Amino acid sequence: MRYRLDINGAVREVDVPPEMPLLWVLRGELGLVGAKYGCGAGLCGACTVHVDGAAQRSCQLPVSRVGQARIHTIEHIGATQSNFHDFPLARMPATPEIEIAWVRSDKPPTGLGEPVLPPVIPALTNAVFAATGTRIRSLPVRLKSA
Ligand code: FES
Repeated sequence: MRYRLDINGAVREVDVPPEMPLLWVLRGELGLVGAKYGCGAGLCGACTVHVDGAAQRSCQLPVSRVGQARIHTIEHIGATQSNFHDFPLARMPATPEIEIAWVRSDKPPTGLGEPVLPPVIPALTNAVFAATGTRIRSLPVRLKSA
């Protein structure tokens, strides 16, 4: 069946079965691969597109139910698929402002420091090596008095 779809501001025509999910129309018929296939069950959101301004899981939306709705995919904002070779590395100056909020709780704090330990330990042991010429190759790091 033929459908005229308003996608990213342009009318596109496709000839597909009515039950075909919009995701497969976008990816397979129109080459718009920004929406991804993840779970195929409406759970992960990898296939999300905007349909008349509302986020929709395109894996769960048959093309026959799109009608005259305006569809916007990630390509609409100029995103293009690539890989890490041309992806700029995040640098500290690019860090967005981080807001921290302490929440009163009667529970003991947990999990606060673990994420920082993997990069800190090598940095610390490399600094010790740079300063003293001594390699530290086991944990925990112990300080010896000279
Ligand atoms: S692929 Fe996971 S919600 Fe559509």
